[in-house]
Amino acid sequence: MAISSLGPGASAEKPVYLDSSAPIEKRVEDALSRMTLEEKVALCHAQSKFSSPGVERLGIPEIWMSDGPHGVRAEINWNDWGYSGWTNDSITAFPALTALAATWNPELAALYGKSVGEEARYREKDVLLGPGVNIYRTPLNGRNFEYMGEDPYLAGEMVVPYVQELQKNGVAACVKHFALNNQEKWRGTVDVDLSDRALYEIYLPAFKKAVEDGGAWAIMGAYNQIWGEHCCHNSRLLNDILRGEWNFDGVVITDWGGAHDTKQAALNGLDIEMGSYTNGLTSESAFGYDDYYLANPYLNMIKSGEVPESTVDDKARNILRLIFRTSMNNDKPYGSKCTPEHYVAAKLIGDESIVMLKNNGILPLDGSKYNSILVVGDNATRRLTDGGGSSELKPKDYVSPLEALKALYGDKVKYAPGYTCGRTLYEAEDIIPQEEQDKLRAEAVAMAKDADVVIYIGGLNKNAWQDCESTDRREYELPFGQNQLIEELIKVNPNIVIANISGNAYAMPWVKDVDAILHTSYLGTMGGASLADAIAGNVNPSGKLPYSIPVKLEDCGANSFGEISYPGIESGTADVVAIPGSVIEGGKQPKQTYKEDIFVGYRWHDTKKIPALFPFGYGLSYTDFEYGKPVASESVIGENGKITIEVPVTNKGDREGSEIVQLYISDLKSSLPRPKKELKGFQKVKLAPGETKTVSFEVTPDALKYFDDKKHEWVVEPGKFKAHIAASSTDIRHSVPFEYK
Ligand code: BGC
Repeated sequence: MAISSLGPGASAEKPVYLDSSAPIEKRVEDALSRMTLEEKVALCHAQSKFSSPGVERLGIPEIWMSDGPHGVRAEINWNDWGYSGWTNDSITAFPALTALAATWNPELAALYGKSVGEEARYREKDVLLGPGVNIYRTPLNGRNFEYMGEDPYLAGEMVVPYVQELQKNGVAACVKHFALNNQEKWRGTVDVDLSDRALYEIYLPAFKKAVEDGGAWAIMGAYNQIWGEHCCHNSRLLNDILRGEWNFDGVVITDWGGAHDTKQAALNGLDIEMGSYTNGLTSESAFGYDDYYLANPYLNMIKSGEVPESTVDDKARNILRLIFRTSMNNDKPYGSKCTPEHYVAAKLIGDESIVMLKNNGILPLDGSKYNSILVVGDNATRRLTDGGGSSELKPKDYVSPLEALKALYGDKVKYAPGYTCGRTLYEAEDIIPQEEQDKLRAEAVAMAKDADVVIYIGGLNKNAWQDCESTDRREYELPFGQNQLIEELIKVNPNIVIANISGNAYAMPWVKDVDAILHTSYLGTMGGASLADAIAGNVNPSGKLPYSIPVKLEDCGANSFGEISYPGIESGTADVVAIPGSVIEGGKQPKQTYKEDIFVGYRWHDTKKIPALFPFGYGLSYTDFEYGKPVASESVIGENGKITIEVPVTNKGDREGSEIVQLYISDLKSSLPRPKKELKGFQKVKLAPGETKTVSFEVTPDALKYFDDKKHEWVVEPGKFKAHIAASSTDIRHSVPFEYK
């Protein structure tokens, strides 16, 4: 490149912005000083479905992005959502984020971030669109599988190592969807109203940790609105909270098609606009991307003085900083994909994510006791990396549960699907002929009569109206007549293990009549092997639920207040009609109020005394753990104090296992209503048979605070508290009283 092309200020010496040893802010200012207004505006919008331009004249490269978050998505066409059909873009599919959360193991979150980051770098991506930390508010949300459960503390502890390790590869995390995209129904239009307490205590903390502790380089604005303003250019969310309170210095990227207004986009903290409605062919300009809100319309607004040029300088600074951190980072590694190490990582995360909800002793399944093992259910064979929306993956390898069970138990294993889910993604349950379901059910039941034991592997899948982006579930029950099927199987064979796969809670009317229940999520490439190993006992289950499983839908706070709370009520006309690539139901403006307020998940079950079928934090093992008496270092703490609580935990069984020890805090009296208790610490300990380890927690005043929305600050009130050492949110082993003075 000729130096003279570097623009004003260029000299024969190497420009600062090209010098990777120079401080990043110097590089940013140097590059910015060489750019024309048009070049700065060009940085702020897409040039293809998944890339935004650099500055070719200055040798500043484009930014390439990819979904996220469970692996690197296959290449997408330049101008439409079709796959490009490359033959070198298959990857490792890692377990869904809800599975990662179920491990309660931040070391595995780090391994996840590292591994997926290496794959993203190898695929030459600068931004990975994930991880997602929207809070699990209702089991009907079609995208809960992409998030980390119902508790802000758990999600926050898990997201930080993922982000940190991912970014060591010179790949930015793009934490999504900021904020309150807690349902898919009407996601492009719904206007959410909630208290500041719920916002600050429940919905923001995991994002805050990802930014402040994880150092995330990018964040994705959500589709929905809050307080009547779309999240992608929401002044309070982006200017006041993200940039003002958290000092975010990264890039705000829209969700695809999430921008709706040039002036708001200019003024309210957005940096890059992606996916707005244009296919590059039908728009007015020769080059469709020029019509984006942050393209020519923005340029014209700056030129006419309607918005100041400083707005684009700020955006360009953020984007240049991202480029220097990623594609122009000379120290970034090369990356790798589908390595044995990545398969081991996927398997380990899958292994530790499996939650055993029930076991009357049938598990681990001893193959020598049975001559015939019948596997029933569509998920035993379905490739569960297909579908689901943007998180769909093209894995190089995929081990199904049926294959893995056959590898372990050999010819004893027979298979019957038991039901069908239809053939296409958007084929609804109700259009599958009933005779077809009846026939498959009858076949499975007949085979179950002759089997020694039945392993049922159903659940949800990634088709629309199940665990799938852009649609919510229509019911809390399992679809495709699975409950009827399970009940008929139970009648003919008393030995039945349920090993369902899903990213969500569902009703279990047969819970008392089955011998064992394993609750597992979408585990990717190695998923079948993890599940089969847990059934066989090669893996001792050690996951715990990252969300509550209510008995029935109305027992969930969000769903107990009627439509105003979920999914919202339509009125008037929406200002957007369609998001490309999405199914949007309704064209009106839906409004929603989070009536349950701060009482989400176990906070609701606890406080309202509505027991869950299986509570948050619950999960069994093939061994037993005994909790000794905790010892607290103090009984009183002050403003800068802390209490250390130590508790010995012993493996009383005869096999190795891991226990997740949880710390909850109760405020016994407070000026504002508070949940009965809240998670403030956890530790996963691996113990050999007979081994004891001491688990240690630190309680600081921060763990005692609530958000006072009148004062707009976190407050701790003097008074009595209790620290609970627990095996789940309802299984408190010991409580330690203390005082804050
Ligand atoms: C999804 C995002 C995704 C983007 C790009 C959107 O529809 O909501 O999560 O990253 O598409 O595929």
